[in-house]
Amino acid sequence: MSMVQEKVQSAEYVDFWNEVLVPKFVKYKHILVDGLTHHSEAVFPSLPVKPGDKVLDVGCGFGDTAIQLARRVGPRGHVTGLDCCTAFLDFGRKDAQAKKVANVTFVEGDALIEPFRPEYDFVFSRFGTMFFANPVGGLRNMRKALKPGGVMSHIVWRTSADNPWLSMAKEVVLKFLPPPGEDARTCGPGPFSMADEETVTKMMQIAGYEDISFTRVDAPVLVGRTIEDAVNFQLALGPAGEVFREAGPQAEARRGEIEAALAQAIEKQKRQADGIVMASSSWVISGRNPV
Ligand SMILES: C[S@@+](CC[C@H](N)C(=O)[O-])C[C@H]1O[C@@H](n2cnc3c(N)ncnc32)[C@H](O)[C@@H]1O
Repeated sequence: MSMVQEKVQSAEYVDFWNEVLVPKFVKYKHILVDGLTHHSEAVFPSLPVKPGDKVLDVGCGFGDTAIQLARRVGPRGHVTGLDCCTAFLDFGRKDAQAKKVANVTFVEGDALIEPFRPEYDFVFSRFGTMFFANPVGGLRNMRKALKPGGVMSHIVWRTSADNPWLSMAKEVVLKFLPPPGEDARTCGPGPFSMADEETVTKMMQIAGYEDISFTRVDAPVLVGRTIEDAVNFQLALGPAGEVFREAGPQAEARRGEIEAALAQAIEKQKRQADGIVMASSSWVISGRNPV
């Protein structure tokens, strides 16, 4: 076993993603992939990706953006989808095969320590970088994967106030349970850790990027097909899910009351043909590797 593999297997956040979050992401794939797609669709046409390019998709999850990018770069180009969870990569591999997309490879690795070489024209990440235990180190390592002059674009959530689809449920759950303690098991800094434009500009500068830009994307996202689906989703994942999970038996003892309060709050949200939708907001942050 190589040193890199040993590190991937021992990092706390990697274990947490694999053991705790993957099964929940798989269960709520219908909510996550559709919702997150709104945020990449808004900017995909303007991304600097052309036929023949070599592209890296960091924290590629189920692999849908990697496959989309592979179609864009065409048969002369290639896309590598990198993720620290094998189970996600298997989804990507099967999906690429089913869609007959041959120019994409899914690789297991930790973006913080992967020994990248400067071989990519474009590096992308949709909602992956906010979980980096060392954000500047991770952003710098992604830059090392870029050819001189290459661009990195990552999509991250804006503030919790701009993302009621994640924050509203947490407020409801906190009426019944204590916030997670210092020792809570974690997948990294969390969804809103890159919301502040000034802080992340600094992070990008220290990581060595130039021509840094921020584009705001607002989009309604599905939170569940039914109220029950939405309540279960909120108690499984995201900030409310973390509070519920960490409270353990205390949460289970109050499950009925919490579910009822959440259902009441979700009932007031907007309905569309496919289910209940709420507001979400992201930044698309780009930077260039100096020539
Ligand atoms: C919120 S999900 C987003 C997945 C996908 N990009 C999407 O938009 O659907 C974050 C992903 O980043 C991956 N991830 C988190 N930290 C990572 C790291 N240090 N190295 C590689 N992947 C990581 C997780 O396994 C997960 O698949």
